[in-house]
Amino acid sequence: MPGGAVTTVTGTTDVNRVEAPVTVRAYLIVAFAAFGGIFFGYDTGWMGGVLGMDYFIKQYTNQEYPDVKFPGLSKDDQIVKDYRKSTFVVAQWQQSLVTSILSAGTFFGAIIAGDVADFIGRRVTIILGCGIFCIGGILQTASTGLAVMVVGRLIAGFGVGFISAIVILYMSEIAPKKVRGAIVAGYQFCITIGILLANCVVYGTQSRRDTGSYRIPIAIQFLWALILGIGLALLPESPRFWVKKGKLDKAATALARVRGQPADSDYIQDELAEIIANHEYEMSIVPQTSYLGSWKACFTGKISSPSSNLRRTVLGIVMQMMQQLTGINFIFYFGTVFFQQLGTISDPFMISLVTTLVNVLTTPFSFVMVEKIGRRTILIWGAAAMVIMQFIVAIIGTTAGRDTPDHPANPNATRAMIAFICLNIASFATTWGPAAWIVIGEIFPLTIRSRGVGLSTASNWFWNCIIGVITPYLVADQPNSAKLGSNVFFMWGGLCCISFLFAYFFVPETKGLTLEQVDKMLEETTPRTSRKWKPHSTFAADLNLAEKPLELPVAQETQETKTAA
Ligand code: BGC
Repeated sequence: MPGGAVTTVTGTTDVNRVEAPVTVRAYLIVAFAAFGGIFFGYDTGWMGGVLGMDYFIKQYTNQEYPDVKFPGLSKDDQIVKDYRKSTFVVAQWQQSLVTSILSAGTFFGAIIAGDVADFIGRRVTIILGCGIFCIGGILQTASTGLAVMVVGRLIAGFGVGFISAIVILYMSEIAPKKVRGAIVAGYQFCITIGILLANCVVYGTQSRRDTGSYRIPIAIQFLWALILGIGLALLPESPRFWVKKGKLDKAATALARVRGQPADSDYIQDELAEIIANHEYEMSIVPQTSYLGSWKACFTGKISSPSSNLRRTVLGIVMQMMQQLTGINFIFYFGTVFFQQLGTISDPFMISLVTTLVNVLTTPFSFVMVEKIGRRTILIWGAAAMVIMQFIVAIIGTTAGRDTPDHPANPNATRAMIAFICLNIASFATTWGPAAWIVIGEIFPLTIRSRGVGLSTASNWFWNCIIGVITPYLVADQPNSAKLGSNVFFMWGGLCCISFLFAYFFVPETKGLTLEQVDKMLEETTPRTSRKWKPHSTFAADLNLAEKPLELPVAQETQETKTAA
């Protein structure tokens, strides 16, 4: 009965049949979700520029524009420069508050989203995230002062937390194994485009002397929410969510849609049986009886065992922490000030354009690298490359690049520093940028996956916030700062050494495996031996599903089934 409702599921013993073949349309469905990365990038990208806008500063400080206060003087006159530096500027505490409040929202949003995604589904959670984000966006657009802006940013951050965690979960669960890494790398690509777009929009509106200066960059975000929300409303739910819920008929229908095959085809049956069998197996190891029990499950087992839930949760959280500690956001958040201190490029927009463009243009190389070379290998080599680049920047900076009255900077040295900073961005964009997200989508078993991805994403935002808050105090030329200057790159380089060791000792290779095969691989190998592991049996065979088909609850011929057929 091709295209009919599914009533039984028969598994396979063939390790090559645990995933159905995929049509082009199905690939496009999966790739669409990557669009969620735009939120992440855009939202982290616009605030810095808005804080430097004259109209915004006037609104927040009640001070006159410099050209009105000092008519006839040019912007290069010392008195005007001093006024801009000390008086015509949003107070430091207000800058920190509006910037970091977003991360507070995203941190809690990501943790809670993991929970919500297990109750109402991955897709609906992302749509809900878009709705929450819009409420925050309305408040921010309407704001004319600090209080409303802060509340708006907190709420919008909450929505971004939902989106950033659950898009990864959703994509990892529906993508075919051969391109899962490349597709999640597409999410990273969208983050980089989001950052670039934010920079361009802010540049376009910065000299306006009306509310459009900050309202336009904020309001543009509604477009992302609309596109993602409407798009996802048309996409299928993750079949793995339905398996977790025990709604196997719905799981069959959803799987049929994401693979572009009829729901009752042998391929769909084999893949579904494998997901079900793996879930049964996981539940038998760590049964989850209550709500608190299901949270506790994230932290059970021995840390020394690569397949324990505790080890995987710690792996995800530390993976995202180390991604932030590579120092990449130091360049994106603080690069402008740093380059200005070097005294080579004076236009701040040019600076952020160069760094964000390098980020955008090099990320697509990772689409191929994550699948051909593998996640583990690129994380190891990426960390090594960043150690080299950052140490070179630090060494040049401390020897020839300083710009002080008694030690003027050598222009060739500063050019070389900028070149190595760009090479460092490229090293991140092709390795740790995408791979950190890919790995957290792949290492968790279905029983704790949504919470594991939520906790790991929350770790990303937590460290993102810490870096945003501390870096000005490390480098800025102010009395209470550590005035590290170029030496800060010794610190980031040193942290990349730790990332290198972390990747070498703790990150397993997950390329080319289904999420269920990753589970088996973690049980049978250590991270260092994982690259050589090959699937040799199926969960369905272990559970005898190949001989004894599983009865499904009577399937309704839903709209989804018809579409799939
Ligand atoms: C990181 C962000 C960073 C971005 C840069 C992401 O993977 O999580 O913090 O700003 O990459 O492209």
